[in-house]
Amino acid sequence: MTGVTLTLNGEVIRAEVLPRLHLADFLREHCGLTGTHLGCEHGVCGACTVRLDGAIVRSCLVLAVQADGTKIETIEGVSDSGEAQAIQAAFASRNALQCGFCTPGMVITALDFLATAPNPTDRDAIRAHLSGNYCRCTGYEAIVDAIVSVANQ
Ligand code: FES
Ligand code: FES
Repeated sequence: MTGVTLTLNGEVIRAEVLPRLHLADFLREHCGLTGTHLGCEHGVCGACTVRLDGAIVRSCLVLAVQADGTKIETIEGVSDSGEAQAIQAAFASRNALQCGFCTPGMVITALDFLATAPNPTDRDAIRAHLSGNYCRCTGYEAIVDAIVSVANQ
């Protein structure tokens, strides 16, 4: 076991973990934060997207020990802080989710886009930014609509 200390949604967390444990399982099983979903566990689907030191990462590709000393933000953190309130409301009002499996990762990526894009209403740029987040339900159009609506607020 290896000691890990990180800041999780603003709270300092210390834990002993197996070196092979990935960050998504650490968040879900050790911390009880099941809003971070696990789909492929191969870095393909984006369901496990979280922020690590402000940058979006696929948490199934990060070992918990690699997150030692970092600041991790999950869907629970951005929801509780209110940061995701506008985009979550837009997802609901635009029907940008159906089963909801992709939604936590999609919201984290949408927030990243809205914070960094020079032209956040550019639909092609939105699709490109979301290209690492798969949705099997919506066809993406409603998700793009939701992001554009927040960018226009
Ligand atoms: Fe991490 Fe699919 S579960 S990218
Ligand atoms: Fe079902 Fe996106 S809402 S996978």
